[in-house]
Amino acid sequence: MSRQKYSLKPWNSFGIAAYANRISMVDSVEVLCQCWQQSAQQNEPVLLLGEGSNVLFLQDFDGHVLINRIKGISITERANAWSLHVGAGENWHQLVETTLNRGIAGLENLALIPGCAGSAPIQNIGAYGVELEQVCEYVDIVYLPDGTGQRLNVAECQFGYRNSVFKNHYRDGYAIIAVGLSLKKNWQPVLSYGDLRNLDPQTVTPRQVFDAVCRMRHSKLPDPKINGNAGSFFKNPLVSATVATELSIQYPDMPQYLQECGDVKLAAGWLIDCCSLKGFRLGGAAVHKQQALVLINAGAASGQDIVILARIVRQRVAEKFNVWLEPEVRFIAAHGETDAVGVIE
Ligand code: FAD
Ligand code: EPU
Repeated sequence: MSRQKYSLKPWNSFGIAAYANRISMVDSVEVLCQCWQQSAQQNEPVLLLGEGSNVLFLQDFDGHVLINRIKGISITERANAWSLHVGAGENWHQLVETTLNRGIAGLENLALIPGCAGSAPIQNIGAYGVELEQVCEYVDIVYLPDGTGQRLNVAECQFGYRNSVFKNHYRDGYAIIAVGLSLKKNWQPVLSYGDLRNLDPQTVTPRQVFDAVCRMRHSKLPDPKINGNAGSFFKNPLVSATVATELSIQYPDMPQYLQECGDVKLAAGWLIDCCSLKGFRLGGAAVHKQQALVLINAGAASGQDIVILARIVRQRVAEKFNVWLEPEVRFIAAHGETDAVGVIE
């Protein structure tokens, strides 16, 4: 008799119909560690999930999925800032709204990013000119084999563009259980991106920034409830200043963003768009019509459909620009995360 399987479809924003052997919701650090340790004793693979908005299931997961629902938000007023301690299982966008409703500004540019607060540090979520690291004070983690807790300050988190220590040293055997944020009372709007430039920095309110960000996101990004997706499928690539100059001579319209380190960030969406791939469909997978950086589940896509499309997109961009894109989305195979670049090479 075959073992009963549990659907992961409600637990991944791509809406891929994959299955797991077991799915458990965990609402405390103790239960999280217990579940992890029981599975480890049985050599059963474990996958931690928040809301599954940055994962692609390549096949069924042959193990135990732990959905983090450790809740709780506490807000403390300090002389110059508000300090927030947020349980990892809190929904990120609800947190943004909660702060705004209480008159606390600083998270408005990060509105409508799906997922949990505890997942935000992993890829240092960013949008519209702000990244999590600018408001993050600390991240609390637990070592799952023995339940030991540890608090990492911002420097220890090693935040970078879509990167942190949680994708590297603290990836396996650790879970994020809470995040500490510090939101300055002396609020300065960040209006450097897109339509936000049209707002008046002298009079703008946090709510107006929030509304503008929500409008821009609604106009470009597909709603996962209608077309499954995981946001930007690829990271924006970094190239050397020399390569960037050569490209801008050939493509004068190419958007380029100079980084502090001297490298230049290119817009992966623009590169894909230039290959005339917007709306390109293959099997159940497609390139989104409004935003070429987003791959969508256009109808009953399997993880493999998305992989095949991603491979083609990556190859076309490399043929035209000699730039190789890397996925932002985390690829999950039968026993756990697998090297995403390796899969689409
Ligand atoms: P999940 O997808 O559940 O997990 C992501 C990874 O973290 C997995 O590898 C998982 O195993 C691991 N993980 C989950 N929880 C824990 C934990 N507690 N401890 C340790 N590891 C854990 N991202 C941006 O940065 N900016 C955007 O503007 C943006 N826009 C998006 C728009 C859409 C429509 C969608 C679908 C996604 C978008 N994303 C964006 C990506 C996504 O929202 C973020 O990466 C988010 O932080 C993922 O949260 P999650 O809880 O869904 O993580
Ligand atoms: N562009 C095109 N065609 C497209 C898509 C984009 O020409 O189909 C051009 C745009 O006109 C613009 C440039 O490319 O000149 C950048 O596009 P956009 O402002 O939409 O941002 P992005 O680089 O595509 C990044 C993040 C998003 C984040 C937005 C807003 C990455 C990988 N993606 O997208 O994050 O919301 O900026 O700040 O860094 C995510 O990580 O999942 C995500 C959605």
